[in-house]
Amino acid sequence: MRIILSKSAAEAVDAVTTIVLDKLASHPSLVIGLATGRTMEPVYAEWVQKAVKLGLNMDKAFFFMLDEYLGIAENHPSSFKSYIKERLMIPLKLHESQFAFPPIHQSGEHYETLIQEAGGIDLQLLGIGVNGHIGFNEPGSTPGSRTRVVELTEETKLSNQSHFGIGQMPSKALSMGIGSIMDGKELLMLATGKSKADAIKYLMNHHNDEKCPASFLKSHAHFTLVLDPEAASKISLNI
Ligand code: F6R
Repeated sequence: MRIILSKSAAEAVDAVTTIVLDKLASHPSLVIGLATGRTMEPVYAEWVQKAVKLGLNMDKAFFFMLDEYLGIAENHPSSFKSYIKERLMIPLKLHESQFAFPPIHQSGEHYETLIQEAGGIDLQLLGIGVNGHIGFNEPGSTPGSRTRVVELTEETKLSNQSHFGIGQMPSKALSMGIGSIMDGKELLMLATGKSKADAIKYLMNHHNDEKCPASFLKSHAHFTLVLDPEAASKISLNI
């Protein structure tokens, strides 16, 4: 595992964005797995700003979304499809055909097949939940899990409730599994803010622990964790 400890949240966001854009510049047909959530919002904002400034052509890139809520319309303002349309697809004038979304009406295997047919995911972006989840692989998810329907924990529902009206928070989602994520050639996780400090501490101290799905990533040969000082506030790093 490689850790990048940034001096501020803005610097952490910049580190992630730079890695993504450098790769896209050198490999225009990169296949990228995209995460959503509050953590990633400034990444997409900076990605758009820099890509426009650099005149980076992304027409050959392909994107797989990591997860999606179930039980809401795909054009619901809080769906992950709407999230990425608003933050990446529309501002960069990318084509919808460059994106694959977890198949609400098809089996998870179908999504796994699409990923394989695309040659696998070159770079997978990830956030981390306060309970250590990745994608919507909640604690208890197994390392061999693949794209499937998952039940959201109360903790996750509480964390994400503010995106929905009262009583409208979905209780299920479709998520790439831990096995699907581990198949990515390179994994890049960003954690910012105090609310992630406990999850990062647990992650640092545990390996392959189902209580913290993110801990499985430490076995990946190319896993980079980018932290801001608040997310790193409960760990000590000798650097
Ligand atoms: C969503 C996803 C989730 C989030 C996590 C953190 O696509 O992959 O695992 O990364 O829930 O969410 P935020 O960034 O909102 O704290």
